[in-house]
Parts: sequence; structure tokens; C-alpha cells
Amino acid sequence: MSRNGFTLWFTGLSGAGKTTLARLVEKELKQRGHKVEVLDGDIIRTNLSKGLGFSKEDRDTNIRRIGFVCDLLARNGVVAIAAAISPYREIRDEVRGGSSAPFVEAYVECPLEVLVERDVKGLYKKALAGEIKNFTGVDDPYEAPGSPEVLVHSAAESPDASAMQIIARLVEMELVELELAELAQQTGDEEEDEEEVRARLKALGYV
Ligand code: ADX
Repeated sequence: MSRNGFTLWFTGLSGAGKTTLARLVEKELKQRGHKVEVLDGDIIRTNLSKGLGFSKEDRDTNIRRIGFVCDLLARNGVVAIAAAISPYREIRDEVRGGSSAPFVEAYVECPLEVLVERDVKGLYKKALAGEIKNFTGVDDPYEAPGSPEVLVHSAAESPDASAMQIIARLVEMELVELELAELAQQTGDEEEDEEEVRARLKALGYV
């Protein structure tokens, strides 16, 4: 079955869980027959955006490049998943505006205190000590989305739960079909049964 492409754009502070969730959603969508590509900030900065730093100008360039490639992929039937801090609302909105395929913004919210506490990469400690300048959330801005299509709280829920919330939202937006196993349970009228499955997902808090 051919499936339509779209861009799933993760935004959030460093360490909030964007990459983890991108990979979980990637796995789930591949299992459902989608073609998926993940554009992760850390990886993109070693090739496509090599040489760019963390000034506003360089971050904007990075985000515009990622957005450009996402759109190339999405309009060719691929689910393009971006996982970059993308701290500036205006540039995220610009990328959304330039997308020819559906654009879904997923905000991975996590309190700064939790990120500093976890400090997986040890970068917050350095930023707080002034060893790294212009670190997002410490001495550089992060502009949270006003009305993202999906909002997950990574400090309060498991990665699997967040990933399922995202999948449920994609189903709700009709970008992803209900699971084959669920569809297989259908007996009579397809639409009626689909509504039933939706109701079940809703009762479980997924949609
Ligand atoms: S973005 O702002 O241009 O979207 P991107 O997601 O590509 O950022 O890269 C962020 C990653 O770069 C962080 O997860 C962190 O590992 C690293 N990094 C290094 N310096 C900084 C900095 N000053 N601010 C934020 N992240 C930084």
C-alpha cells in the first residue's frame, strides 16, 4: 500500500528526549509500512551542516536546511522526522509555511532543572560554568511552540508512552492508519468499526 509522506518536527531543549522519541516513532512507523528518515541535529551537524555553530544565524541556517530536506523527502512519500532543538519559533513557522506536505510539530517539554540534573552529555554543567557559551536554555533562548500538534512531557512519562501519544495523534490527523491488527478485527461496515477502534483508543487516552 502506498503511504503519504509528512514531516514530523520535534523541538525541545537539549537532552529532552527528541532523538529517543524520533527513533521510537521511526521504528513504529516502519513496522506499519511507512518509509521513514530521521534527520537528527547532532548527526546533521557532522555532514549537511558541518561547520555551523550556535549563533542565531547558524542555527537558523541549520533549521532551514533540515526543513528543506524534510520537504524533499515528505513530498516523495517518506515520513521525515526532524530532531533538532530548533529554538526559534519564527524559523520553525517558516519551515512549516514552506512545506508542501503536512507538517506536524511535536514539542518535547522537559523542565530545565530535570535536564541539568540528568545532564546526559555533561554539557549543562559546562554551560552553567561558563565553559560553553550560548547554550540553549542556559544563556541562549528557547521559544516553546504556542500550539504544537503534539505535546509530550518527557520528565513525567515514559518514552514509550510519549511515542504512543505521538502515534495516536498521527492516527487522529489521518496521516497514519490504525494498526493492521486493529483493522483486521473489523467485521461489518469499515467506517463504523474504525470509529469503534478510535473510541477504544480514546478511552485508553491515546487520542
Ligand atoms: S539547533 O539549535 O541548531 O537546532 P541542534 O539540535 O542542531 O541545535 O544541535 C544541538 C546539539 O548540539 C545539542 O544537543 C548539544 O549536544 C550540542 N550543542 C553544542 N553546543 C550547543 C549550544 N551552545 N546550544 C545548544 N546545543 C549545543
